[in-house]
Amino acid sequence: MEAPFRLQSFDPAHLSPQFFADPYPTYEALRRHAPLHRCPDGSWFLTSHADLDRIYRDRDHTSSDKKTVFGAKFGTGSPLFEHHTRSLVFNDPPYHTRVRRQIVGALTPKVIKAMLPEVVALVDRLIDRMLERRRFDLIEDFAAAIPVEVIGNLLGVPHAERGPLRAWSLAILGALENALTPEQAAQGESSVRAFLDYLRHLVVDRRRAPVGADDLLTRLILDETGGAPLSEHELLHNCIFLLNAGHETTTNLIGNALALLISHPDQFARLRATPALIQSCVEECLRYESPNQLGNRLVIRPLEIRGVTLEPDSYLTLCIGAANRDPEVFVAAERFDVARSPNPHLAFGAGAHACAGMSVARMEAQIALSRVAERMPDLTLLSSAERSMRARFRGFKHLPAAIA
Ligand code: HEM
Repeated sequence: MEAPFRLQSFDPAHLSPQFFADPYPTYEALRRHAPLHRCPDGSWFLTSHADLDRIYRDRDHTSSDKKTVFGAKFGTGSPLFEHHTRSLVFNDPPYHTRVRRQIVGALTPKVIKAMLPEVVALVDRLIDRMLERRRFDLIEDFAAAIPVEVIGNLLGVPHAERGPLRAWSLAILGALENALTPEQAAQGESSVRAFLDYLRHLVVDRRRAPVGADDLLTRLILDETGGAPLSEHELLHNCIFLLNAGHETTTNLIGNALALLISHPDQFARLRATPALIQSCVEECLRYESPNQLGNRLVIRPLEIRGVTLEPDSYLTLCIGAANRDPEVFVAAERFDVARSPNPHLAFGAGAHACAGMSVARMEAQIALSRVAERMPDLTLLSSAERSMRARFRGFKHLPAAIA
């Protein structure tokens, strides 16, 4: 069917405030009428679950290497170019495989289990404070305060030094948005520089005093995979990536989940009545309001999709937010259902680059939501919620709430 005119002109580089408030009607229309949409800049925007699943798992026709794209976007001499092109997520084997093995090896179920008591204690402290104050911001006072501690602990960043991490992280990831202002670019650049300066000291300390086989930074420094060790720059940039990857995404998961539960009181009541639903509840929040809505791949060999041959150098945007509401895969896809099963969402991507921290994110969200469900029965949202105006990372800047 011919795509309606409004959709033919859909341009992810020019999005309206209505889109940021609710992108799903646009995604639904694209998925229905133009699942392989040609953007004004010649790139392709894909919205169906089947196409995304296939491309995420494909290593023969697509690449994650973004040197060409980021060279044009940031300039090859810029700190943002240097950072993003050294992150494992924007690379192919053998470099990707080498870094990923270290990270996955350090995030074992044993390591994650050992983190549990501290996360429960942290979440309870934050809830105590909110109960005392009665009016608070669920982002600043809760959702954002959890990942920074967890990821800070994983990399052994001393507590007193965690203050600037979130702002650096937001600025560096914010620079990945399609539409980038000169101010955002400048903030991203200075944040990479500041982050590098900080981490250099941390790495020097850890080289002097390695912590043990389970410590992520020690693992990355010692690099015992038998391959070529990471250079200093590669090490520092992947630490920055880890701190960033674990940060805004998980903040958004917890914030989006709380907003969803409070605005669906029947579903919140179900969770309260049956706490064992916490796992399916978190999966549903990941599906329904995916914290990472967009991914990208570059075509490296002719790739046929829906009867169209995409030529090498075609740039693809994979819209996770749309795929996760695809009615071909999800029954009543527009319904938020904390008991949904099965739930094969793509919120963590899939294939060789599937999120290496998904168990950490799930653990944080499960603890945060179950403790809120148990300890804050009268939680209500105040009307002035403020969304982050970002298409790639969907979340709230502020989510003011109160105890009724
Ligand atoms: C709700 C929270 C999170 C979401 C939605 C999320 C989402 C994703 C997605 C979609 C990818 C795949 C990117 C691609 O293929 O292009 C990814 C990769 C990655 N994530 Fe996460 N993530 C989350 C939390 C975390 C956490 C807590 C950590 C670390 C502790 C982490 C570490 C990573 C790493 C290292 C990669 C790169 C994997 C690779 O390239 O092989 N993420 N994440």
